[in-house]
Amino acid sequence: MPSSKWKGSAPPNWSRPERVVDLYPLVRPLLRALPPEAAHRLTLTALAAGLAGTSRASDPPELHQRLWGLDFPNPIGIAAGFDKDARAPDALLRLGFGLVEIGTVTPRPQSGNPKPRVFRLEADGALINRMGFNSGGLDRVLERLAMRRNEDGIVGVNIGKNRDSADAVPDYTVGVRRAAPLADYLVVNVSSPNTPGLRDLQARAVLEALLRQVLAARDETGVRPPLLVKIAPDLTPEERADIAAVALATGIDGMIIANTTIARPSGLRSPQAKEAGGLSGRPLFAPSTTVLAEMYRLTAGRLPLIGVGGVASAEDAYAKIRAGASLVQLYTALVFAGPALLGGVKTGLAALLRRDGFASVAEAVGADHAVAAAISIGLSPS
Ligand SMILES: Cc1cc2nc3c(=O)[nH]c(=O)nc-3n(C[C@H](O)[C@H](O)[C@H](O)COP(=O)(O)O)c2cc1C
Repeated sequence: MPSSKWKGSAPPNWSRPERVVDLYPLVRPLLRALPPEAAHRLTLTALAAGLAGTSRASDPPELHQRLWGLDFPNPIGIAAGFDKDARAPDALLRLGFGLVEIGTVTPRPQSGNPKPRVFRLEADGALINRMGFNSGGLDRVLERLAMRRNEDGIVGVNIGKNRDSADAVPDYTVGVRRAAPLADYLVVNVSSPNTPGLRDLQARAVLEALLRQVLAARDETGVRPPLLVKIAPDLTPEERADIAAVALATGIDGMIIANTTIARPSGLRSPQAKEAGGLSGRPLFAPSTTVLAEMYRLTAGRLPLIGVGGVASAEDAYAKIRAGASLVQLYTALVFAGPALLGGVKTGLAALLRRDGFASVAEAVGADHAVAAAISIGLSPS
């Protein structure tokens, strides 16, 4: 599909006038009164029905970026897990996301863990989920993506394994082979905490073998969309160094940092903090940004990174970019703040770039590392 994308500097339709009002303030009380998963299902249904509207403004030119031969109108994406089954990718693009990540999709349909399996930690601006890769399966997802084949906008597909598959590798190679013709980028997700054994795939030798096989599967398709690996925030320094080495040695195209955490940082105030699963949102911001910065340093800025974890403002997105992210994703903040958040993040990010003298996102990627290096050799950064 990348070949059918617009490649010019001025993608179509951005300046199309706004046609829909923001209904979120009206439906917010209803969504909050529902259990989190029911609220999510309703949100997706509304999006798929075209009730969510179109972003008010065209994206500021500083936010445009070309990566992997793809034109991103802005660097803010919706993270995996929000639209696992590709029910509303175009509605999410119309809301103003610069990229939409579908999935995680497993080869065969599976129902995931028993409900309830998502918990709001209101006082902490956080969620805990133990969904367990509930998925409509590859056939269903790819059918939907095939129907939108000629639409504009960057849509990635995040691939996982079925819970009952003893050997993970064929699940990933099948997913990659089948999704490659319909995905602008692919993600190998080895970091969900809710599928037993999944995160063990991050161990050096296992990861290297897996990535070599999925890259070969992708290359056989002839379409070669960029392939990224999504990692956990709960890694030891040795594991991080191993993953960085494997990433560079195998030639994958980038990394997404990070998935939810199994840690429970001290200071969580919500009673739901004791639930099992992956924690996302505000408490994940600092640890995931630390891992992001470390991976940028370990890969010497040679791989584009997508920063995700606790982004809830323009300042947060800018911090991810300065720490080394070329693109930024969010999920949990959207649950608490609604879709109006996105416009504010984009406008605020453009203002922060301008304030600091950056003409583009690309110029600011990893800027904190340059400052740290200048300080370490005794130069005063300008
Ligand atoms: C309910 C829920 C389901 C998720 N499902 C997936 C998933 O299927 N695959 C995946 O890679 N990440 C999944 N994630 C993780 C997010 O993509 C993201 O990495 C994480 O939530 C941190 O970002 P945030 O703090 O902005 O939410 C899920 C997160 C939540 C809250």
